[in-house]
Amino acid sequence: MRRRSARKHPSRPLLRRSRLIRLLGALLLAAAATGAGGGTAEAAAPAVPADDTDPRARVVPVPATVTPGGTPYTLTRRTAIRVPGTAQARGVGDYLAGVLRPSTGYPLPVTAAAGEDGIRLRLATTGREVEDLGAEGYRLEADADAVTITARQPAGLFHGVQTLRQLLPAAVERRTAQSGPWRVPGGTITDVPRFAYRGAMLDVSRHFFTVPQVKRYIDQLALYKINKLHLHLSDDQGWRIAIDSWPRLATYGGSTQVGGGRGGFYSKDDYREIVRYAQSRYLTVVPEIDMPGHTNAALASYARLNCDGVAPPLYTGTNVGFSSLCVPKDVTYDFVDDVVRELAALTPGPYLHIGGDEAHSTSPQDYAAFMDRVQPVVAKYGKTVIGWHQLTGARPAEGAVAQYWGLKGDEREVVAAAKAGTKMILSPGNRAYLDMKYTKDTPLGLDWAGYVEVRQSYDWNPGAYLKGAPASAVLGVEAPLWSETVSTSDHIEYLAFPRVAGIAELGWSPAATHDWDAYRVRLAAQGPRWDALGIDFYRSPQVLWE
Ligand code: ACM
Repeated sequence: MRRRSARKHPSRPLLRRSRLIRLLGALLLAAAATGAGGGTAEAAAPAVPADDTDPRARVVPVPATVTPGGTPYTLTRRTAIRVPGTAQARGVGDYLAGVLRPSTGYPLPVTAAAGEDGIRLRLATTGREVEDLGAEGYRLEADADAVTITARQPAGLFHGVQTLRQLLPAAVERRTAQSGPWRVPGGTITDVPRFAYRGAMLDVSRHFFTVPQVKRYIDQLALYKINKLHLHLSDDQGWRIAIDSWPRLATYGGSTQVGGGRGGFYSKDDYREIVRYAQSRYLTVVPEIDMPGHTNAALASYARLNCDGVAPPLYTGTNVGFSSLCVPKDVTYDFVDDVVRELAALTPGPYLHIGGDEAHSTSPQDYAAFMDRVQPVVAKYGKTVIGWHQLTGARPAEGAVAQYWGLKGDEREVVAAAKAGTKMILSPGNRAYLDMKYTKDTPLGLDWAGYVEVRQSYDWNPGAYLKGAPASAVLGVEAPLWSETVSTSDHIEYLAFPRVAGIAELGWSPAATHDWDAYRVRLAAQGPRWDALGIDFYRSPQVLWE
Protein backbone atom coordinates (compact mmCIF):
# COMPACT_ATOMS: atom_id res chain seq x y z
CA MET A 1 0.00 0.00 0.00
CA ARG A 2 1.17 3.48 -0.80
CA ARG A 3 2.18 5.62 2.08
CA ARG A 4 2.90 9.23 1.75
CA SER A 5 4.61 9.69 5.01
CA ALA A 6 5.25 6.66 7.21
CA ARG A 7 8.61 8.12 8.02
CA LYS A 8 10.20 9.51 11.09
CA HIS A 9 10.46 13.24 11.39
CA PRO A 10 13.78 14.53 10.15
CA SER A 11 14.64 17.30 12.54
CA ARG A 12 17.76 18.54 10.78
CA PRO A 13 17.65 22.30 10.55
CA LEU A 14 19.37 22.62 7.16
CA LEU A 15 22.15 24.71 8.56
CA ARG A 16 23.91 26.67 5.89
CA ARG A 17 22.14 24.63 3.28
CA SER A 18 21.89 27.40 0.74
CA ARG A 19 25.62 28.01 0.63
CA LEU A 20 26.35 24.32 0.36
CA ILE A 21 23.81 23.89 -2.41
CA ARG A 22 25.25 26.80 -4.37
CA LEU A 23 28.72 25.34 -4.07
CA LEU A 24 27.52 21.90 -5.15
CA GLY A 25 25.59 23.40 -8.04
CA ALA A 26 28.66 25.30 -9.22
CA LEU A 27 30.78 22.16 -9.00
CA LEU A 28 28.24 20.13 -10.96
CA LEU A 29 27.99 22.80 -13.62
CA ALA A 30 31.76 22.90 -13.94
CA ALA A 31 31.79 19.12 -14.21
CA ALA A 32 29.10 19.18 -16.89
CA ALA A 33 30.94 21.88 -18.84
CA THR A 34 34.18 19.92 -18.89
CA GLY A 35 32.48 16.61 -19.62
CA ALA A 36 33.81 15.21 -16.38
CA GLY A 37 30.74 14.63 -14.28
CA GLY A 38 27.25 13.26 -13.81
CA GLY A 39 25.57 16.18 -15.58
CA THR A 40 27.07 15.45 -19.00
CA ALA A 41 24.31 13.30 -20.44
CA GLU A 42 21.85 16.10 -19.75
CA ALA A 43 24.11 18.86 -21.05
CA ALA A 44 23.78 18.25 -24.80
CA ALA A 45 23.04 21.25 -27.01
CA PRO A 46 19.39 22.19 -26.54
CA ALA A 47 16.92 22.50 -29.42
CA VAL A 48 15.66 25.99 -28.72
CA PRO A 49 15.49 29.38 -30.37
CA ALA A 50 19.05 30.64 -30.73
CA ASP A 51 18.00 34.22 -29.95
CA ASP A 52 17.69 34.49 -26.22
CA THR A 53 15.40 37.49 -26.51
CA ASP A 54 12.84 35.12 -28.06
CA PRO A 55 10.09 34.63 -25.45
CA ARG A 56 10.22 30.90 -26.15
CA ALA A 57 13.71 30.87 -24.65
CA ARG A 58 12.76 32.97 -21.61
CA VAL A 59 9.12 32.77 -20.56
CA VAL A 60 7.63 30.04 -18.36
CA PRO A 61 4.98 28.83 -19.05
CA VAL A 62 5.92 29.13 -22.71
CA PRO A 63 3.27 31.24 -24.50
CA ALA A 64 0.91 29.50 -26.91
CA THR A 65 1.82 31.64 -29.93
CA VAL A 66 4.84 33.90 -30.42
CA THR A 67 5.67 36.11 -33.39
CA PRO A 68 9.01 37.66 -32.47
CA GLY A 69 10.61 40.59 -34.23
CA GLY A 70 10.56 44.34 -34.63
CA THR A 71 11.97 47.05 -32.48
CA PRO A 72 12.05 46.44 -28.74
CA TYR A 73 10.25 48.71 -26.32
CA THR A 74 12.47 50.41 -23.74
CA LEU A 75 11.09 51.62 -20.42
CA THR A 76 12.17 55.13 -19.52
CA ARG A 77 11.69 57.68 -16.79
CA ARG A 78 8.74 58.98 -18.84
CA THR A 79 6.92 55.65 -19.24
CA ALA A 80 3.35 55.63 -17.94
CA ILE A 81 1.19 52.60 -17.22
CA ARG A 82 -2.13 53.21 -18.96
CA VAL A 83 -5.10 51.29 -17.60
CA PRO A 84 -8.84 51.03 -18.29
CA GLY A 85 -11.09 52.81 -15.84
CA THR A 86 -12.21 49.78 -13.83
CA ALA A 87 -11.01 49.14 -10.29
CA GLN A 88 -9.76 45.66 -11.13
CA ALA A 89 -7.76 46.80 -14.15
CA ARG A 90 -6.38 49.66 -12.10
CA GLY A 91 -5.37 47.07 -9.50
CA VAL A 92 -3.37 45.17 -12.11
CA GLY A 93 -1.67 48.40 -13.17
CA ASP A 94 -0.81 49.27 -9.56
CA TYR A 95 0.56 45.77 -9.06
CA LEU A 96 2.76 46.10 -12.15
CA ALA A 97 4.00 49.50 -10.99
CA GLY A 98 4.80 47.93 -7.61
CA VAL A 99 6.98 45.33 -9.33
CA LEU A 100 8.77 47.79 -11.63
CA ARG A 101 9.30 50.97 -9.58
CA PRO A 102 11.90 49.85 -7.01
CA SER A 103 14.32 48.31 -9.51
CA THR A 104 13.93 50.79 -12.36
CA GLY A 105 13.70 53.81 -10.12
CA TYR A 106 11.16 55.27 -12.56
CA PRO A 107 7.93 56.93 -11.37
CA LEU A 108 5.71 54.83 -13.69
CA PRO A 109 2.46 56.65 -12.97
CA VAL A 110 -0.67 54.53 -13.34
CA THR A 111 -3.18 56.53 -15.34
CA ALA A 112 -6.57 56.10 -16.95
CA ALA A 113 -5.60 58.65 -19.61
CA ALA A 114 -5.62 57.19 -23.11
CA GLY A 115 -2.47 57.27 -25.20
CA GLU A 116 -0.51 55.35 -27.79
CA ASP A 117 2.68 55.07 -25.78
CA GLY A 118 3.92 53.42 -22.59
CA ILE A 119 2.67 50.21 -21.04
CA ARG A 120 -0.95 49.93 -22.08
CA LEU A 121 -3.38 47.53 -20.40
CA ARG A 122 -6.57 47.20 -22.43
CA LEU A 123 -9.82 45.36 -21.79
CA ALA A 124 -11.88 44.47 -24.84
CA THR A 125 -14.90 42.24 -24.59
CA THR A 126 -15.98 42.00 -28.20
CA GLY A 127 -14.39 41.81 -31.59
CA ARG A 128 -12.18 39.49 -33.57
CA GLU A 129 -8.99 40.55 -31.82
CA VAL A 130 -10.12 39.12 -28.48
CA GLU A 131 -12.60 36.41 -29.33
CA ASP A 132 -10.09 33.61 -28.69
CA LEU A 133 -8.68 34.97 -25.46
CA GLY A 134 -11.26 33.48 -23.10
CA ALA A 135 -11.36 34.30 -19.41
CA GLU A 136 -7.61 34.21 -18.77
CA GLY A 137 -5.87 34.79 -22.12
CA TYR A 138 -4.09 37.91 -23.30
CA ARG A 139 -2.25 39.38 -26.25
CA LEU A 140 1.03 41.23 -25.68
CA GLU A 141 2.38 43.44 -28.46
CA ALA A 142 5.70 45.25 -28.12
CA ASP A 143 7.24 47.79 -30.47
CA ALA A 144 9.26 50.97 -30.21
CA ASP A 145 6.32 53.01 -28.90
CA ALA A 146 4.49 50.79 -26.46
CA VAL A 147 3.86 47.46 -24.84
CA THR A 148 0.15 46.75 -25.17
CA ILE A 149 -1.52 43.95 -23.22
CA THR A 150 -5.07 43.23 -24.33
CA ALA A 151 -7.45 40.86 -22.57
CA ARG A 152 -11.14 40.19 -22.13
CA GLN A 153 -10.88 39.99 -18.36
CA PRO A 154 -8.59 41.44 -15.69
CA ALA A 155 -7.21 37.93 -15.11
CA GLY A 156 -5.86 38.00 -18.65
CA LEU A 157 -4.21 41.37 -18.02
CA PHE A 158 -2.64 39.97 -14.87
CA HIS A 159 -1.25 36.93 -16.68
CA GLY A 160 0.05 39.19 -19.46
CA VAL A 161 1.81 41.26 -16.81
CA GLN A 162 3.59 38.11 -15.60
CA THR A 163 4.84 37.53 -19.14
CA LEU A 164 5.99 41.14 -19.34
CA ARG A 165 7.99 40.67 -16.10
CA GLN A 166 9.76 37.68 -17.56
CA LEU A 167 10.56 39.55 -20.79
CA LEU A 168 12.42 42.17 -18.77
CA PRO A 169 15.88 41.48 -17.31
CA ALA A 170 15.86 39.45 -14.08
CA ALA A 171 17.22 42.42 -12.13
CA VAL A 172 13.79 44.03 -12.48
CA GLU A 173 12.72 41.76 -9.60
CA ARG A 174 15.17 43.36 -7.16
CA ARG A 175 13.80 45.78 -4.60
CA THR A 176 16.59 48.34 -4.92
CA ALA A 177 17.51 50.54 -7.91
CA GLN A 178 19.36 48.64 -10.65
CA SER A 179 20.83 49.76 -13.92
CA GLY A 180 18.86 48.99 -17.09
CA PRO A 181 18.36 49.10 -19.95
CA TRP A 182 14.83 47.81 -19.44
CA ARG A 183 14.03 46.40 -22.86
CA VAL A 184 11.04 44.31 -23.89
CA PRO A 185 11.73 42.34 -27.10
CA GLY A 186 9.56 43.40 -30.05
CA GLY A 187 6.83 41.10 -31.35
CA THR A 188 3.42 39.68 -30.53
CA ILE A 189 2.42 36.98 -28.06
CA THR A 190 -1.07 35.51 -28.04
CA ASP A 191 -1.57 33.27 -25.08
CA VAL A 192 -4.36 31.21 -23.52
CA PRO A 193 -4.21 28.41 -20.95
CA ARG A 194 -4.55 24.75 -21.81
CA PHE A 195 -6.33 23.90 -18.54
CA ALA A 196 -8.68 25.93 -16.36
CA TYR A 197 -7.33 24.49 -13.10
CA ARG A 198 -3.65 25.13 -12.42
CA GLY A 199 -3.05 24.61 -8.74
CA ALA A 200 -0.55 24.41 -5.96
CA MET A 201 -1.31 22.94 -2.55
CA LEU A 202 0.29 23.92 0.71
CA ASP A 203 -0.06 21.61 3.72
CA VAL A 204 -0.41 24.06 6.61
CA SER A 205 -1.34 21.27 9.01
CA ARG A 206 1.82 19.19 9.40
CA HIS A 207 3.62 22.47 9.91
CA PHE A 208 1.77 25.74 10.26
CA PHE A 209 2.65 28.64 7.96
CA THR A 210 1.78 32.23 8.83
CA VAL A 211 -0.27 34.59 6.67
CA PRO A 212 2.88 36.41 5.44
CA GLN A 213 4.47 33.06 4.51
CA VAL A 214 1.38 32.06 2.55
CA LYS A 215 1.32 35.45 0.81
CA ARG A 216 4.95 35.06 -0.19
CA TYR A 217 4.16 31.69 -1.80
CA ILE A 218 1.10 33.19 -3.54
CA ASP A 219 3.29 35.87 -5.10
CA GLN A 220 5.72 33.23 -6.35
CA LEU A 221 2.94 31.07 -7.79
CA ALA A 222 1.35 34.04 -9.59
CA LEU A 223 4.56 34.57 -11.58
CA TYR A 224 3.86 31.21 -13.26
CA LYS A 225 0.14 31.78 -13.87
CA ILE A 226 -0.97 29.29 -11.20
CA ASN A 227 -4.60 30.15 -10.47
CA LYS A 228 -5.60 27.91 -7.53
CA LEU A 229 -4.18 27.81 -4.02
CA HIS A 230 -5.30 24.63 -2.27
CA LEU A 231 -4.83 24.90 1.49
CA HIS A 232 -4.72 21.59 3.37
CA LEU A 233 -6.26 23.04 6.53
CA SER A 234 -6.68 19.97 8.70
CA ASP A 235 -4.91 16.71 9.37
CA ASP A 236 -3.90 14.48 12.24
CA GLN A 237 -1.28 16.93 13.45
CA GLY A 238 -3.21 20.17 13.38
CA TRP A 239 -6.51 21.95 12.71
CA ARG A 240 -5.71 25.35 11.23
CA ILE A 241 -8.95 27.28 10.69
CA ALA A 242 -11.16 28.88 13.35
CA ILE A 243 -14.67 27.41 13.41
CA ASP A 244 -16.94 29.39 15.75
CA SER A 245 -19.33 26.53 16.50
CA TRP A 246 -16.46 24.17 17.40
CA PRO A 247 -13.83 26.52 18.87
CA ARG A 248 -11.53 23.87 20.35
CA LEU A 249 -10.72 22.57 16.85
CA ALA A 250 -8.40 25.52 16.37
CA THR A 251 -7.48 26.50 19.93
CA TYR A 252 -6.62 22.96 21.00
CA GLY A 253 -6.45 20.97 17.74
CA GLY A 254 -4.23 23.67 16.24
CA SER A 255 -1.89 23.93 19.21
CA THR A 256 0.92 21.75 17.92
CA GLN A 257 2.46 20.32 14.74
CA VAL A 258 4.88 17.67 13.49
CA GLY A 259 7.82 17.50 15.84
CA GLY A 260 5.83 19.16 18.62
CA GLY A 261 6.14 22.87 17.85
CA ARG A 262 3.54 25.49 18.71
CA GLY A 263 1.45 25.05 15.60
CA GLY A 264 -1.09 27.78 15.03
CA PHE A 265 -4.30 28.49 13.20
CA TYR A 266 -5.91 31.12 11.00
CA SER A 267 -8.57 33.30 12.57
CA LYS A 268 -11.45 33.98 10.22
CA ASP A 269 -9.93 37.38 9.48
CA ASP A 270 -6.58 35.75 8.72
CA TYR A 271 -8.25 33.40 6.28
CA ARG A 272 -10.19 36.26 4.68
CA GLU A 273 -6.92 38.11 4.27
CA ILE A 274 -5.35 35.10 2.51
CA VAL A 275 -8.40 34.86 0.24
CA ARG A 276 -8.28 38.58 -0.52
CA TYR A 277 -4.56 38.54 -1.26
CA ALA A 278 -4.89 35.45 -3.43
CA GLN A 279 -7.71 37.16 -5.36
CA SER A 280 -5.49 40.18 -5.93
CA ARG A 281 -3.05 37.76 -7.60
CA TYR A 282 -5.86 35.99 -9.49
CA LEU A 283 -5.64 32.80 -7.46
CA THR A 284 -8.74 31.13 -6.04
CA VAL A 285 -8.38 29.55 -2.60
CA VAL A 286 -9.52 25.92 -2.40
CA PRO A 287 -9.85 24.99 1.28
CA GLU A 288 -9.53 21.36 2.33
CA ILE A 289 -10.88 19.65 5.41
CA ASP A 290 -9.57 16.11 5.15
CA MET A 291 -12.20 13.51 6.19
CA PRO A 292 -12.98 10.87 7.41
CA GLY A 293 -9.33 9.90 8.00
CA HIS A 294 -6.54 12.36 8.83
CA THR A 295 -8.77 13.68 11.61
CA ASN A 296 -6.83 13.11 14.83
CA ALA A 297 -6.64 16.84 15.61
CA ALA A 298 -10.44 17.09 15.50
CA LEU A 299 -10.93 13.85 17.43
CA ALA A 300 -8.49 15.07 20.10
CA SER A 301 -10.41 18.34 20.43
CA TYR A 302 -13.87 16.84 21.02
CA ALA A 303 -14.32 13.52 22.81
CA ARG A 304 -17.87 13.22 21.50
CA LEU A 305 -16.63 12.88 17.92
CA ASN A 306 -15.04 9.54 18.84
CA CYS A 307 -17.01 6.28 18.61
CA ASP A 308 -15.88 5.37 22.15
CA GLY A 309 -16.35 8.91 23.47
CA VAL A 310 -12.69 9.15 24.46
CA ALA A 311 -10.48 11.86 22.96
CA PRO A 312 -7.06 10.64 21.79
CA PRO A 313 -3.99 12.74 22.55
CA LEU A 314 -2.70 15.31 20.10
CA TYR A 315 -0.32 13.78 17.57
CA THR A 316 3.03 15.14 16.41
CA GLY A 317 4.42 12.20 14.43
CA THR A 318 4.10 11.48 10.70
CA ASN A 319 2.22 8.20 10.45
CA VAL A 320 -0.95 8.13 8.38
CA GLY A 321 -4.13 6.10 8.33
CA PHE A 322 -4.80 5.70 12.06
CA SER A 323 -7.69 8.12 12.62
CA SER A 324 -11.32 8.16 11.51
CA LEU A 325 -14.40 10.19 12.23
CA CYS A 326 -17.16 8.01 13.70
CA VAL A 327 -19.32 7.26 10.68
CA PRO A 328 -22.40 5.87 12.53
CA LYS A 329 -22.71 8.77 15.00
CA ASP A 330 -25.11 11.63 14.21
CA VAL A 331 -22.86 14.20 15.87
CA THR A 332 -20.32 13.54 13.10
CA TYR A 333 -22.73 15.09 10.60
CA ASP A 334 -23.54 18.03 12.87
CA PHE A 335 -19.80 18.64 12.96
CA VAL A 336 -19.42 18.31 9.19
CA ASP A 337 -22.39 20.58 8.55
CA ASP A 338 -21.08 23.29 10.87
CA VAL A 339 -17.54 23.16 9.52
CA VAL A 340 -18.60 23.13 5.88
CA ARG A 341 -21.14 25.92 6.44
CA GLU A 342 -18.65 28.22 8.16
CA LEU A 343 -15.84 27.47 5.71
CA ALA A 344 -18.07 27.84 2.66
CA ALA A 345 -19.25 31.22 3.97
CA LEU A 346 -15.62 32.40 4.15
CA THR A 347 -14.71 31.10 0.73
CA PRO A 348 -15.75 32.93 -2.44
CA GLY A 349 -14.31 30.28 -4.77
CA PRO A 350 -16.48 27.44 -6.08
CA TYR A 351 -14.63 24.49 -4.53
CA LEU A 352 -14.47 22.82 -1.14
CA HIS A 353 -12.05 19.89 -0.83
CA ILE A 354 -13.16 17.12 1.53
CA GLY A 355 -10.01 15.00 1.42
CA GLY A 356 -10.94 11.34 1.56
CA ASP A 357 -7.43 9.88 1.17
CA GLU A 358 -5.81 7.15 3.24
CA ALA A 359 -8.92 6.36 5.29
CA HIS A 360 -7.29 3.12 6.41
CA SER A 361 -9.18 3.07 9.69
CA THR A 362 -12.60 3.43 8.03
CA SER A 363 -14.22 0.35 6.44
CA PRO A 364 -15.03 0.67 2.73
CA GLN A 365 -18.75 0.51 3.59
CA ASP A 366 -18.42 3.26 6.18
CA TYR A 367 -16.29 5.33 3.79
CA ALA A 368 -18.92 5.18 1.07
CA ALA A 369 -21.72 5.89 3.56
CA PHE A 370 -19.79 8.88 4.91
CA MET A 371 -19.18 10.31 1.47
CA ASP A 372 -22.84 9.79 0.55
CA ARG A 373 -23.81 12.01 3.50
CA VAL A 374 -21.07 14.59 3.25
CA GLN A 375 -21.03 15.43 -0.46
CA PRO A 376 -24.62 16.79 -0.35
CA VAL A 377 -23.64 19.03 2.56
CA VAL A 378 -21.01 20.67 0.38
CA ALA A 379 -23.62 21.15 -2.34
CA LYS A 380 -26.11 22.54 0.18
CA TYR A 381 -23.66 25.35 0.98
CA GLY A 382 -23.15 26.12 -2.67
CA LYS A 383 -19.78 24.51 -3.29
CA THR A 384 -18.40 21.88 -5.64
CA VAL A 385 -16.78 18.85 -4.03
CA ILE A 386 -13.15 18.01 -4.66
CA GLY A 387 -11.87 14.80 -3.11
CA TRP A 388 -8.64 12.84 -3.38
CA HIS A 389 -9.09 10.11 -5.98
CA GLN A 390 -10.11 7.49 -3.39
CA LEU A 391 -13.50 9.17 -3.70
CA THR A 392 -13.85 7.36 -7.03
CA GLY A 393 -13.93 4.07 -5.08
CA ALA A 394 -17.13 5.29 -3.42
CA ARG A 395 -19.91 7.21 -5.23
CA PRO A 396 -18.66 10.60 -6.42
CA ALA A 397 -21.55 13.06 -6.56
CA GLU A 398 -22.55 14.53 -9.87
CA GLY A 399 -20.13 17.35 -10.63
CA ALA A 400 -17.58 16.23 -8.00
CA VAL A 401 -13.93 16.53 -8.97
CA ALA A 402 -11.32 13.90 -8.08
CA GLN A 403 -7.67 14.73 -7.43
CA TYR A 404 -5.40 11.95 -8.62
CA TRP A 405 -2.21 11.34 -6.58
CA GLY A 406 -1.28 7.82 -7.70
CA LEU A 407 1.76 6.81 -9.67
CA LYS A 408 0.61 5.02 -12.81
CA GLY A 409 -2.67 6.50 -14.00
CA ASP A 410 -4.28 3.09 -14.48
CA GLU A 411 -6.45 2.55 -11.38
CA ARG A 412 -9.68 0.97 -12.52
CA GLU A 413 -12.09 3.08 -10.42
CA VAL A 414 -10.34 6.29 -11.35
CA VAL A 415 -10.44 5.60 -15.07
CA ALA A 416 -14.06 4.43 -14.85
CA ALA A 417 -15.06 7.59 -12.99
CA ALA A 418 -13.23 9.77 -15.52
CA LYS A 419 -15.06 8.01 -18.34
CA ALA A 420 -18.34 8.49 -16.51
CA GLY A 421 -17.82 12.26 -16.25
CA THR A 422 -15.92 12.87 -13.01
CA LYS A 423 -13.42 15.61 -13.76
CA MET A 424 -9.83 15.02 -12.71
CA ILE A 425 -7.10 17.18 -11.24
CA LEU A 426 -3.80 15.43 -11.86
CA SER A 427 -1.16 15.38 -9.14
CA PRO A 428 0.72 12.13 -9.78
CA GLY A 429 2.96 11.55 -6.76
CA ASN A 430 6.01 10.70 -8.84
CA ARG A 431 5.58 13.82 -11.03
CA ALA A 432 3.74 16.60 -9.26
CA TYR A 433 4.44 16.06 -5.55
CA LEU A 434 6.76 18.85 -4.53
CA ASP A 435 7.63 17.12 -1.28
CA MET A 436 9.41 14.23 -2.98
CA LYS A 437 13.19 14.46 -2.78
CA TYR A 438 14.92 15.39 -6.02
CA THR A 439 17.66 12.81 -5.39
CA LYS A 440 18.75 10.64 -2.51
CA ASP A 441 20.84 13.55 -1.25
CA THR A 442 18.03 16.10 -1.03
CA PRO A 443 18.07 17.26 2.60
CA LEU A 444 14.27 17.74 2.78
CA GLY A 445 11.26 15.80 1.65
CA LEU A 446 10.00 12.24 1.41
CA ASP A 447 10.68 9.48 -1.10
CA TRP A 448 7.75 7.06 -1.06
CA ALA A 449 6.90 7.99 -4.67
CA GLY A 450 10.55 7.90 -5.70
CA TYR A 451 12.99 10.69 -6.40
CA VAL A 452 11.52 13.40 -8.58
CA GLU A 453 14.19 15.34 -10.45
CA VAL A 454 13.21 18.34 -12.56
CA ARG A 455 12.87 16.41 -15.81
CA GLN A 456 10.78 13.67 -14.20
CA SER A 457 8.46 16.36 -12.84
CA TYR A 458 8.03 18.12 -16.21
CA ASP A 459 8.20 15.34 -18.76
CA TRP A 460 4.65 13.92 -18.95
CA ASN A 461 1.41 14.83 -20.64
CA PRO A 462 -1.61 15.51 -18.40
CA GLY A 463 -3.99 15.07 -21.34
CA ALA A 464 -2.83 11.51 -22.01
CA TYR A 465 -1.93 10.48 -18.48
CA LEU A 466 -4.96 8.51 -17.26
CA LYS A 467 -4.90 5.30 -19.28
CA GLY A 468 -8.10 4.90 -21.27
CA ALA A 469 -9.72 8.12 -20.01
CA PRO A 470 -10.53 10.99 -22.36
CA ALA A 471 -8.40 14.15 -22.24
CA SER A 472 -11.64 16.06 -21.75
CA ALA A 473 -11.90 14.55 -18.26
CA VAL A 474 -8.86 16.54 -17.14
CA LEU A 475 -9.72 19.79 -15.39
CA GLY A 476 -6.07 20.53 -14.80
CA VAL A 477 -2.98 19.89 -12.72
CA GLU A 478 -1.86 20.64 -9.21
CA ALA A 479 1.48 20.50 -7.40
CA PRO A 480 0.94 19.55 -3.75
CA LEU A 481 3.52 20.34 -1.10
CA TRP A 482 3.10 18.22 2.04
CA SER A 483 4.91 19.66 4.98
CA GLU A 484 6.05 16.81 7.22
CA THR A 485 9.66 17.92 6.61
CA VAL A 486 8.93 21.51 5.65
CA SER A 487 8.73 24.26 8.26
CA THR A 488 10.11 27.48 6.76
CA SER A 489 9.62 29.55 3.58
CA ASP A 490 13.13 28.56 2.59
CA HIS A 491 12.08 24.91 2.76
CA ILE A 492 8.94 25.60 0.70
CA GLU A 493 10.97 27.35 -1.97
CA TYR A 494 13.75 24.78 -2.15
CA LEU A 495 11.25 21.99 -2.85
CA ALA A 496 8.88 24.02 -5.04
CA PHE A 497 11.50 25.61 -7.28
CA PRO A 498 12.16 24.62 -10.01
CA ARG A 499 9.44 21.93 -10.07
CA VAL A 500 6.36 24.08 -9.57
CA ALA A 501 7.29 26.07 -12.69
CA GLY A 502 7.19 22.86 -14.73
CA ILE A 503 3.78 21.86 -13.41
CA ALA A 504 2.60 25.39 -14.17
CA GLU A 505 3.82 25.03 -17.75
CA LEU A 506 2.05 21.67 -18.10
CA GLY A 507 -1.11 23.39 -16.94
CA TRP A 508 -0.84 26.45 -19.16
CA SER A 509 1.08 25.73 -22.36
CA PRO A 510 -0.26 23.80 -25.38
CA ALA A 511 0.76 20.12 -25.52
CA ALA A 512 2.50 20.80 -28.85
CA THR A 513 5.05 23.04 -27.11
CA HIS A 514 6.15 20.25 -24.78
CA ASP A 515 9.91 19.75 -25.21
CA TRP A 516 12.37 19.10 -22.38
CA ASP A 517 15.35 20.58 -24.19
CA ALA A 518 13.53 23.81 -24.89
CA TYR A 519 11.96 23.87 -21.44
CA ARG A 520 15.22 23.59 -19.56
CA VAL A 521 16.60 26.62 -21.40
CA ARG A 522 13.55 28.66 -20.35
CA LEU A 523 13.98 27.29 -16.88
CA ALA A 524 17.65 28.29 -16.77
CA ALA A 525 16.53 31.85 -17.49
CA GLN A 526 14.45 31.77 -14.28
CA GLY A 527 17.50 31.21 -12.08
CA PRO A 528 18.66 34.85 -11.97
CA ARG A 529 15.03 35.91 -11.43
CA TRP A 530 14.73 33.59 -8.43
CA ASP A 531 18.02 34.90 -7.10
CA ALA A 532 16.69 38.44 -7.48
CA LEU A 533 13.50 37.47 -5.67
CA GLY A 534 15.41 35.77 -2.86
CA ILE A 535 14.05 32.33 -3.75
CA ASP A 536 16.50 29.66 -2.62
CA PHE A 537 15.91 27.05 -5.32
CA TYR A 538 17.40 23.64 -6.12
CA ARG A 539 20.09 24.05 -8.77
CA SER A 540 19.38 20.82 -10.57
CA PRO A 541 22.33 19.53 -12.62
CA GLN A 542 19.78 18.78 -15.36
CA VAL A 543 19.59 22.51 -16.10
CA LEU A 544 22.43 24.72 -17.40
CA TRP A 545 21.67 27.65 -15.11
CA GLU A 546 22.44 31.10 -16.47
C1 ACM B 1 -2.11 11.98 -0.23
O1 ACM B 1 -0.93 12.20 -0.55
N1 ACM B 1 -2.39 11.15 0.76
C2 ACM B 1 -3.21 12.62 -0.92
